[in-house]
Amino acid sequence: MIRVGIVGATGYTGAELVRLLCAHPDVELTVLTSRQYAGVRFDQVYPAMAGITDLICQAFSADDICDTSDVLFTALPHSLPMEVVPDLIRNGKKVVDLSADFRFNNPATYESFYQPHLAKDLINEAVYGLSEVYSDAIGNASLIGNPGCYPTSILLPLVPLVKENLLDHHFIIADSKSGASGAGRSLSMTSHFCEVNESFKAYKIGTHRHTPEIEEILSREAGKPICISFVPHLVPMTRGMLSTIYVHLNTHVHSGDVRQCLDSFYANRPFVRIRPENQSPDTLHVRGTNYCDIGLKMDERNNRLIIVSAIDNLVKGASGQAVQNMNIMLGIEETAGLLNPPFTI
Ligand SMILES: NC(=O)c1ccc[n+]([C@@H]2O[C@H](COP(=O)([O-])OP(=O)(O)OC[C@H]3O[C@@H](n4cnc5c(N)ncnc54)[C@H](OP(=O)(O)O)[C@@H]3O)[C@@H](O)[C@H]2O)c1
Repeated sequence: MIRVGIVGATGYTGAELVRLLCAHPDVELTVLTSRQYAGVRFDQVYPAMAGITDLICQAFSADDICDTSDVLFTALPHSLPMEVVPDLIRNGKKVVDLSADFRFNNPATYESFYQPHLAKDLINEAVYGLSEVYSDAIGNASLIGNPGCYPTSILLPLVPLVKENLLDHHFIIADSKSGASGAGRSLSMTSHFCEVNESFKAYKIGTHRHTPEIEEILSREAGKPICISFVPHLVPMTRGMLSTIYVHLNTHVHSGDVRQCLDSFYANRPFVRIRPENQSPDTLHVRGTNYCDIGLKMDERNNRLIIVSAIDNLVKGASGQAVQNMNIMLGIEETAGLLNPPFTI
């Protein structure tokens, strides 16, 4: 069995990791860390887990966690993982970090949107964990920068298309909507029930921190700089993310070419489902699962292709993709622990 520890286990992505890993056939969960709940059973923090795990949360100690785990997930707010991950890597552990700390190739980009980076020597070692795109590199990695939720929903449909130069890269607009769990479990005015319920709003228009992450990967895959307009929205639901992406096709490219490109890129990838033309992705169809559903519709009148993608922000957008990356890193079945069927309603 693979011994796995989770740092920051009581946050939303940490708890989702516990849920997924308790059902993983090859994993034994050994350590769950938390500051606020040290000494408290995990099933007292999340009563839904009664009878599933009897682990007790503990304070973080690099020595303890390295003694008892082979693989570690860090599910902490950004800026904290870069303080703890170097010790874990030095001790020969494999690490999947869910924050932004190890997502960027270029530290200057990270520093202009976040804060000074304290573990720059690890940046070159880290692999961006977009599982379907970078599986070869993930298979040889010890440190994964797990992608953000919005970037996952936007990059999965766009990467194959920019690689094949099918899109006019000057005109890409991504209009995305997220459920409130995207903001994490800590209390804040913006995620307060009364602020979210009966409300639907755009926020951080054109300035969200996921914009440089999306642009870095699109530019890398296109071999030329790509800038996009990205507008995130908050919707009053707990989990789920839908991105509607507007693109112009290059001359002589038809919508059929786009479908063929995506069908062939994802032909053997079980978690990306390209929907038939008459079916638009729906967050309900991917809730609690590691699927990314992608739909395509040509707006012939305006010669514009409209792409819609749906993921669960906590699964394919975070913890599910993190488990998928662990599976790929360890050379076990990519789908292990992730094949629970979706709810039908
Ligand atoms: N939510 C999503 O949909 C999503 C998607 C993709 C990526 N992510 C990323 O995943 C990471 C975790 O996100 P989350 O949504 O799970 O966050 P969260 O619900 O706020 O959980 C954060 C966890 O970190 C722990 N923690 C330790 N030191 C902390 C500190 N100084 N300040 C605050 N928390 C501290 C908290 O528990 P204690 O306070 O008990 O220690 C808690 O377990 C973030 O980097 C986030 O950007 C989130």
